[in-house]
Order: sequence, then structure tokens, then C-alpha cells
Amino acid sequence: MCGIVGYIGARDSQAVLLDGLSKLEYRGYDSAGIAVFTQDGLRVSKAKGRLAVLAEKLEDAPLKGSVGIGHTRWATHGKPSDENSHPHTDKTMKFSVVHNGIIENYMELKEELIAQGVHFVSETDTEVISHLIAREYDGDIVKAVQRATEHMRGAFALGVLTEHEPDKLVAVRFASPLIIGIGEGENFIGSDIPAILQYTRRVYILNDGEMAVLTKDAVELMTIEGNFISREMIVVDWDVLTAEKGGYDHFMLKEIHEQPKAYRDTMRGRINEDRSGVKFPELKGLTPAKLSSIRNVHIVACGTAYHAGLVGRTLIEQCVGIPVETDVASEYRYRSPIITKDTLVIVVSQSGETADTLAALREAQRNGAHVLAITNVVGSSVAREADDSIVTWAGPEIAVASTKAYTSQLIAFMLFSLYWAQSTGSKDTAWIGQQLAAMESLPEQVERILEQADVLKDVAEGMAKHDNMFFIGRGLDYAVALEGSLKLKEISYIHSEAYAAGELKHGTLALIEDGIPVIALTTQPTLVEKMVSNIKEVKARGGVVYAVTDETNVAGVEKAVDGTFVLPATLPMLTPALAVVPLQLISYYASLARGNDVDKPRNLAKSVTVE
Ligand code: F6R
Repeated sequence: MCGIVGYIGARDSQAVLLDGLSKLEYRGYDSAGIAVFTQDGLRVSKAKGRLAVLAEKLEDAPLKGSVGIGHTRWATHGKPSDENSHPHTDKTMKFSVVHNGIIENYMELKEELIAQGVHFVSETDTEVISHLIAREYDGDIVKAVQRATEHMRGAFALGVLTEHEPDKLVAVRFASPLIIGIGEGENFIGSDIPAILQYTRRVYILNDGEMAVLTKDAVELMTIEGNFISREMIVVDWDVLTAEKGGYDHFMLKEIHEQPKAYRDTMRGRINEDRSGVKFPELKGLTPAKLSSIRNVHIVACGTAYHAGLVGRTLIEQCVGIPVETDVASEYRYRSPIITKDTLVIVVSQSGETADTLAALREAQRNGAHVLAITNVVGSSVAREADDSIVTWAGPEIAVASTKAYTSQLIAFMLFSLYWAQSTGSKDTAWIGQQLAAMESLPEQVERILEQADVLKDVAEGMAKHDNMFFIGRGLDYAVALEGSLKLKEISYIHSEAYAAGELKHGTLALIEDGIPVIALTTQPTLVEKMVSNIKEVKARGGVVYAVTDETNVAGVEKAVDGTFVLPATLPMLTPALAVVPLQLISYYASLARGNDVDKPRNLAKSVTVE
């Protein structure tokens, strides 16, 4: 969690840092701060709250200088406050540090430093880093940082400045993401690409245990031990607009509308022209022989990505006929899962940096499983550590609430299940071709759903007046109901529960009372009759039921409910890629109607890099 930026060059660094931080606020927004070399030395300005609070403070008292570091915080150690905001300094105020991650042994280090006479001003783990670097400094900042990191355990991406060497910016990566941007007469660091994209497209991605020493004209890369390394420079092909709102009121709305493109991009080049099958040339380890040897699958992920995994479970079981379990990553390790060399573990992560997912990946590899990653970020930790990876080409997702990353994960699961079915012969070419043809229609079908956003806005505004809601479904619809409910909760703050429709009467039906809104997903032809019975049970207790159904099933449903949204018809296995879209829009408009900050819901951050 947290976002860091750094700049060394000739521009007004305050402006560059504030701009970079504005692109990283999705990583946390409890406080923000910058440190800049000014005429009077290294100066820090920081403030609790959103970046706008800091920007206002800097308007009154700007920090002028062309070298600086900045930070946007998601609080872990110590409450959100001015004192706990980064950058942190040492007692001489000559060293300044921004940090993303957690120093696990910080209490031990803090006690040691206090015994040596250091006075701490914050409750953070990060402050120990600035004092440690100051203690280790003997005229060479690079060596001081290297020595300091030898004492630290945990995760850290660091940006470090010292007044003693004002022509250098030192960056370190260990288990928290960090990139280096290369400019002309200027260089940058950032937690993520959008932070620097306005200035340069040329980047180095640091690996764990690596550091960079930036001057305005050069970048030296080395290991934390000090061995120089060379790295291929990546030229990022995202445009600045892609990383900005592009005319929409919110990133979430923009990202919902980008889904047809995300579907097409994730399918592009992966479907044979004659639809005879799927190609995944990137899957070097998952050869047909390897796939044939797999006996069971574990899908592991968090939050929305976990919900994509629930859909993935059904897809793989239906296409390949082998047992699949789906686990929340934070629980996976603690149930001692039975993992063998014939287990395929699929980790799903938009960011590729989620700490629990990464820990599950490592546990699976330790136990001999083959790990496949489905991730949206090329070069992320998950992508690099997995044995194979499938990239979802959703593009940068900025809104905290995941939309296009989730649906791209569904597309990736659909393609992968078909690929596996074709590799092992569990389904014939005609059946696979039929699924692929239907998949190719999905982007245009999503466009048709998006054209009806106004209808959903009205529905959402009615629902926004309530404090409790339910989502029900069976089979794949239940997996989608879970995602719809999470989306609603996280941005509208309406309490909502998703229930397997048949399970409702085993307890939760007691909560249904007059007027309570219930969204019923009914897209599975074999389950419609049973769903209608469950809908009737809800209506008999006063629930107001809005059905999300499709052209195939609407006739059996519409008379039983109070309102319907009709999706275009597709094959039953593919319905999640359509059914979730109206639920995303309902959540968006309900959040808006309640006056919430849609893109930055309270208490949450985009990339959860702590366990
Ligand atoms: C909800 C949401 C989260 C993430 C979860 C995993 O809208 O975005 O539930 O899905 O934090 O994140 P990734 O996919 O980056 O591992």
C-alpha cells in the first residue's frame, strides 16, 4: 500500500511530485507529503487527509527546488495524522525517506535506536529507516542505505534523499513495487507507471533486492549488496489519457465503459481465426502433457479477484471435468491445503502485488505445485514469480472498486478453460468453436448494456434510499451475486448480502421485511424455475425484487418480479461477463446518489500489499 514518487532534474519538483501523487492516490489517501531540496536545505511539508489538503498547504508555503520525494499514505503503523505522514526525517533533518511496505522488525530496531539516544516523533515503522540511514552514514549515501537495509526485515520500496549529497536520489525495492522513469536531463521514481507517464514512457522495473541511484543525467542499477546490474528498458505504450479520466466523471465509470475494449484486448491474438481453438504461446510450462497430468486445481485470490475465481472454478470443472477449489488467499495457507506436484494453483490478482495472494503463491510453489498467475500488471511480483502467467489486457485500473479487471479475469478464465479442454480433448472442436463465437459477441453485447445506463441509474437511485439489500442467485449467478454485493457495499456503503438463493430459507429469510430491495440473478436456464420459487419466498415476506435476467429466460421470470433488466442472450457459461455489468452500474449510481467519493471509498486502498 502507499504510493511513492521521486524527481531529480531541472523542473519545479513540487509540481512534478504533486502530479505524480495524484495518479497514485488510489494506493492510499490517509495523508500526503513531500520533501524537497530548497535553498535553505532539505524541507518537508506534509498533511493528514487527501492530497488536496497538502496542495493547499503548499500553495501558501511552496517548497522550491528541483529534487524531491513524495508519498501518499494508507495507514498501517500509526493512525492517519500529520506526524505519521511521510516523508520521515532523522533528528538532524538531513535525511528524508518515503516508504511503501512494512518493516516487520521495527519495534526491535526502534528500541535499539532509542537506547542509542534517538528520539522518535511518529508511531510509524518508517521512521526507523530514516534514523538507521543517518546512523549508518559516513559520507556515502548509497552505502548507508545498503547498510541500513541489512537491518530491516519486511517489505519496502524506498525513496531516500540526504542534504549531504543533494545531487542524488536513492531508490530501493524489496517486496513492494517500484519503477524508475528515464527522462532527458531528469529522472523519476514511482510506485506505478501512471505516476510518471506524463513525463516519460521509458522505464526500468526494479526487482526485489535491487536499488537505483539517480542523478539528473544518469541512473545506476545495482543489487542491495552493491553489484551493478543492467536491465532492459521498457517503453510503455499506454497513453496519458488512458491513465486519466478521459472525460468521464469518475475513473470507475470510465473503466466500466472500457470493458468492451478490455474484453477484445484480452481475447486478441488468442483465438484461432477459424475458431478451432485457443492459443496461449506464453504458457511455456503448461504444455498439453503438463495439463493432462494435473489432478486438481486450487484458485486463490482476494476480494473481487476471488469472485472471478469462483466463476473460474465452474468453468474449469465444466470444460475439463477435474476438481477445482477456490480459496480466499488470506485463509488458504491456514487450512493446510493438500498440494501435490499434480496440483495447478491459479492465483488471480489485478495488481499482482496483493500480499496474501503472493504468500499463497509462494506456499503453493514450496509444496511443488505449478502456479499460473492471471494478472493485469506485466512485471508485477505475481507475474514474475508464477511459473506461467496470463495477462488480462484491461489497462490501468485506477478506481478502487474493480470492474474491468474483474471482467477481463472472467475472459481469461473462459479462454483458459477452453484451451485446457482442447489440449486434453475433453470437449470437441465444434463445442469449443461455439463458445468462442459467443465470446466474440460479448464486447458488443456489453456495449448494448451500457447504452441502458439511464434505466439502471433510476433503479439505483431508488435502492440508494435503503440501508440493507440482498443479492440472490444460483450456480454461476450466485458467484456474480457475490461480486455485485461487494461492489455495492464498498462504494455505496449500503449493507448488502449475497446469498445462494436456495440457502436463504435456512436463516437469512428472517431479515426480509417490507420494501427491502432484492436483486435476483436469473440467467441459467436449468435453474430458472427454482429461482422463481425463491423469488416468490422473498416476495411473500415483502421483498421488492428486481431481476437481472436475459433474453433466454425473461419469459419465465418477469411475472414473478417487480422489475427486470434484460441482458442479451449468450451461452450459459458466459453469462457472468454480461450479468455483472448492470450490477456495476447500479453500485456506481447508488454511490453517486448517496454523495460518496466513488473512486476512493472510505477505509480502502487499491493495492493491498500488507497481510
Ligand atoms: C474490490 C477490489 C478488491 C480487489 C482485491 C484484490 O473492488 O478491487 O476486492 O479485488 O483487493 O486485489 P488484486 O486483484 O489486485 O489482487
